[in-house]
Amino acid sequence: MQIHIEPISKSRIDQVDFDHLAFGRSFADHMLVAEYADGAWQSVKIQPYGSLEYQPAMMSLHYGQSIFEGMKGYRGKDGSIQVFRPEENWKRFNKSAYRMCMPEVPEEIFLGGLRELLKLDQAWVPAKEGCSLYIRPFMFATDEYVGVTPSSTYKFIIFNCPVGSYYSKPLRVRVETEYIRAAKGGVGFAKNAGNYGGSLFATQNANKDGYDQIIWTDAATHQYVEEAGTMNLMFVINGALVTAATGDTILDGVTRKSVLQIAKDWGMEVQERQLAVKELIEGIQNGSVTEAFGAGTAAVIAPIATIGFEGKDYDLPERKDSDFSVRVYNEINQIRLGEIPDTRNWVWKV
Ligand code: COI
Repeated sequence: MQIHIEPISKSRIDQVDFDHLAFGRSFADHMLVAEYADGAWQSVKIQPYGSLEYQPAMMSLHYGQSIFEGMKGYRGKDGSIQVFRPEENWKRFNKSAYRMCMPEVPEEIFLGGLRELLKLDQAWVPAKEGCSLYIRPFMFATDEYVGVTPSSTYKFIIFNCPVGSYYSKPLRVRVETEYIRAAKGGVGFAKNAGNYGGSLFATQNANKDGYDQIIWTDAATHQYVEEAGTMNLMFVINGALVTAATGDTILDGVTRKSVLQIAKDWGMEVQERQLAVKELIEGIQNGSVTEAFGAGTAAVIAPIATIGFEGKDYDLPERKDSDFSVRVYNEINQIRLGEIPDTRNWVWKV
């Protein structure tokens, strides 16, 4: 499909302090905008990043037919721009689209369009250690209609943000036993906007009590660990890597599956299974749980220092360089930067 390019007249890059990047506050010069109508993708355009005008009755604002992805681009040590496993995000995006009654986005628009966008915005990919270009593809319903039904028109957009770390220190997280994120048969596995909107209230309550994030538990019993609001959760228990198995309620994270693959390649035992909160807390107390961390595109590998449960705090051991979470972070980082051979074919060069 032909991509029409309307370049910027003057870059805004000088307005951004690349030495002090926050997460998600600065936006690169261009964005890709594709329009869907009459049962087909009609046009794909790259245009200056900026505001778009919509009607108050636009359906996505009312009924939440809106999905997104998150990917990261890096400047390799040879200066080339590379993205970590974007094909996986494209496939997951279309699974979310199917669940939310939205059209699939073809590879040539999602990945082909991304390539063209990154060629134009390559100066925005940070070179500094720990920084990257966060890539946000998303799609939303655009019909002007107040009935509850799938929209017949959609927009697919990709914009880019140069970012620093999402979390800057080891986290304090609290086990949530009142509210839920997802239930069997629901949309928890999809990356739709409502999953995140629905997580805000419980997370805000935890923030007020001094926690950074929450550990969601299963909707039926609140006894089993699911994921955090912004990432999958992983634990090292008796030397094995333990994480919730994917299913209706768990996001099939790209960082999650990469960490599991690396662990297997290193000969570590990997257990995708139910983990009872009781087992977790007792394991911290008796020393069998040696590491806890989040895994996600934005968060990468986010160490957890403390887990709060039923009014008490349980501290994980101090981090050491020999910890699995430290070694796996280094491995992923080196692959993304082209510092070690990409033996698993995870790097997508622009
Ligand atoms: C990501 O990790 O890319 C996400 O979409 C999570 C979001 C909370 C930033």
